[in-house]
Amino acid sequence: MKKIVVALDGYSGTGKSSTAKQVASRLGYTYIDSGAMYRAVTYFFLINNVDFSNVGQVEKSLKKCDISFSGTSIYLNGANVDNEIRTMDVNNHVSQVSAISAVRAKLVEHQRKMGEEKGVVMDGRDIGTIVFPNAELKVFMTADMDVRAERRRKELLKKGIDEKLEVIKENLNQRDHIDSTRADSPLKKADDVREIDTSHLTLNQQIDKIVEMAESIIYEG
Ligand code: DC
Repeated sequence: MKKIVVALDGYSGTGKSSTAKQVASRLGYTYIDSGAMYRAVTYFFLINNVDFSNVGQVEKSLKKCDISFSGTSIYLNGANVDNEIRTMDVNNHVSQVSAISAVRAKLVEHQRKMGEEKGVVMDGRDIGTIVFPNAELKVFMTADMDVRAERRRKELLKKGIDEKLEVIKENLNQRDHIDSTRADSPLKKADDVREIDTSHLTLNQQIDKIVEMAESIIYEG
């Protein structure tokens, strides 16, 4: 059977990751959370006090930063960092780190390798535009800010972090701004992307829609 690449881009809090994970499982594909990779590098820089504005320090430090996945869990130099990469400290710095070209070059190369054999669902900001411009299915997810902030708050609460909605909104707004205006690979819609507004959709409805799109390409192509 034909295998495809599903590229899922969009803003934070649109339900991209939860959707992508389930879509991959329904298709029997590998799920790759590219945002988690940017978060792992950010966490690594923070614990090693790397000065983000110092290119030399960033490049040297990147050489010591090995990222891998086992199932849907992410490992940094062999240690599981699934929880460590979801803190507000990482949230507050990840856009700055993901705007650094040396960081993007390393992670994009890694992401392309992971998608070489196809049969992957990858979510992020530049998957349909830069990482896999030839992906057979590209989806761009959006949602109202209030819905996004509420979803992010619930996600944090599950991890025992009780953050004010206003603080979350401010963080999401700031990240949207940095992610869409950075010079290297800004978040934008690919020309051949299909847009889904998830504000009024349940998780299952989002998943069904994308699985349907993917299956129509897999079985018709
Ligand atoms: O999807 P997320 O919120 O976990 O992503 C964390 C950050 O990583 C986000 O602010 C932007 C950045 N990112 C990126 O620049 N490119 C990607 N492909 C994925 C994420």
